[in-house]
Amino acid sequence: VQIIFNEKNIRKNQAEQTFGYSKKHMKKIGLIGYGCVGQGFVRYLAQQAALEFEIAGIAVKRNDIKRPFTIIPIHYNADRLIEDPSIDIIVEAIDDAEAAFLYATRALRNGKDVITANKKMVATHLTELLELQNETQRKLYFEAAVAGSIPILHLLQSYYRREPLTRLRGILNGTTNYVLTKIFNEKLDYRKALRQAQKLGFAESEPSSDVTGADAWYKSKLLAYRAFGVDLDLAEIMYYGIDTLHEDDIRYARSRQKRIKLIPIIQPTSEGIVAWVLPHLVDPSDSFFTIDNEFNCIELEGGFIGRQQLIGKGAGSLPTAAALVGDLNALETRNKQNVHSQKAGDPAQIQIEVYIRDHEILSQNTIPFEEVKEGYMDDSYHYLVGFIDLKKLIALKPWLYQRRCTVIATGQYKINTKSAATHHQETAYCATNQKAWA
Ligand SMILES: NC(=O)c1ccc[n+]([C@@H]2O[C@H](COP(=O)([O-])OP(=O)(O)OC[C@H]3O[C@@H](n4cnc5c(N)ncnc54)[C@H](OP(=O)(O)O)[C@@H]3O)[C@@H](O)[C@H]2O)c1
Repeated sequence: VQIIFNEKNIRKNQAEQTFGYSKKHMKKIGLIGYGCVGQGFVRYLAQQAALEFEIAGIAVKRNDIKRPFTIIPIHYNADRLIEDPSIDIIVEAIDDAEAAFLYATRALRNGKDVITANKKMVATHLTELLELQNETQRKLYFEAAVAGSIPILHLLQSYYRREPLTRLRGILNGTTNYVLTKIFNEKLDYRKALRQAQKLGFAESEPSSDVTGADAWYKSKLLAYRAFGVDLDLAEIMYYGIDTLHEDDIRYARSRQKRIKLIPIIQPTSEGIVAWVLPHLVDPSDSFFTIDNEFNCIELEGGFIGRQQLIGKGAGSLPTAAALVGDLNALETRNKQNVHSQKAGDPAQIQIEVYIRDHEILSQNTIPFEEVKEGYMDDSYHYLVGFIDLKKLIALKPWLYQRRCTVIATGQYKINTKSAATHHQETAYCATNQKAWA
C-alpha cells in the first residue's frame, strides 16, 4: 500500500485534532521524541479522519536544530507533558533508555498509560515496569519495540493467548539481515554492506547494538515474556552477533550451499523457558533462507496452530509508527494479562551444535564440546563443529568475543527432558528424532 501524504490534509486533520469540534471526547497524548519514529507517529495520526486521540504536545531534547513543520506545540522539557494532568497517554520514542525509563515510570505514577518503542528500556527494566503497572493500574505497551510493523506482541496476547506454543524463532534485526543479504546475495564484504545499510537508513551511525546481537537479545526477552509470561534474566540468554564474521566463515557456509542469518530461538523445556540468539547456518529448504534485506520474520510453532510465520518491515518511520498506533488501539480495548506464567529454564538443558572459528588451534580443552563432529586447521583458519552445553557457551562468550572468534549455530540442538532429549532440526521444523543424552 502506498501512502500518499497531502500536507494540506495533514494540517487540516491536525487542526481538527487540536481545535476541532469533538475535542472534549478526545484522549490527549504527550509525545516524547520527534525523530524517525516520533515523526512517523505524527504523520500516521494526521492521516486519520475520525480520530479519538489528539497529540497535545511534543517533547524533544535539543532546541537548536531545524525540525519538520508541525502545529503541535514543541517543548524542551518532557516534564511539561508528564506533569500535565490533562494528558492521558505518554508515547515515548526516544533513543536514550535510561531517560526513557525515568519518563515512563513517572508517567505511570502520574496515572498515565505509556506506549514505548524502546526495547532496551523495557528489556532491562521489565520486572520494575510490570510491578509499577500493577501498582498504578495503568498500562505499558511496547509493540513497536519488537519487529516493527509486525503486531506479534498483541497477537500473542490475544489470538495466541491460549495456544500451547512449542517454539518461537525469528529474524528480528533488520540491519543484520540487510548486511547478511548483501554478503550472500551480492558478495559485498561486511564493511561495505554495513555502510550501505547506514546510507539507506536501516542501520544507525553507531550500529554496535545491531551487529553484536544485543538488539535481538532485548527483543527475545520481550517476546519470551509475551509468549510464555516469563521474565528471563538477560544474562541467561546467550547472544552472539555478526561483527566477528570472517570471509572464511562465509566461504564455509557457501561451500555447504547455506546462508547465515541472525536468529533468536525461544524454546520451552520441561524445566522452563530457554532462549538464545546466534548467527545460524540456514539451508535453502528453510523459509528463513529468503527473508531478505530489512525484513523481519517471526515463526511460531504450537500444538493447535502447527507452524505459522509473520513477515513484515522490522523498522522504519511509518512501520514503527503503525506499531505505536496498534498500542493506542489496544488501550481502547484493554487486553488482559498473559494466560501463561511459565518459569525460566536452565540453559544447561540445551545442547546446541555450533561452528566455532579461531585463528589459533581449537581443541576440546579450550572449548568444552560434548561431542565434536567436524574440524579443520591450516595456518590461520581453524574451526570445530560440535555440540556444547548452552550454559558453558554463555560462560565462554567473553573469551570467544575477545579473540574475535566466530560462533554460528548449525540449527541442530537437543533439549534435555527428564528421560530423553528432543533433537531439533530447524530445517525440518519438528522434533522428530528423539535422542537421549541425559
Ligand atoms: N528507527 C526505527 O526504525 C525504530 C524501530 C523500532 C524501534 N525504534 C526505537 O524507537 C526509539 C526512537 O528511535 P528513533 O529512530 O526515532 O530515534 P531518533 O531518530 O534518534 O530520535 C530520537 C528522538 O528522541 C529525542 N530525545 C532523546 N533524548 C531525549 C530526552 N532525554 N528527552 C526528550 N527527548 C529526547 C531526540 O530529541 P532531539 O530531536 O532534540 O535530538 C529525538 O527527537 C528508540 O528506542 C529505538 O530503539 C526505532
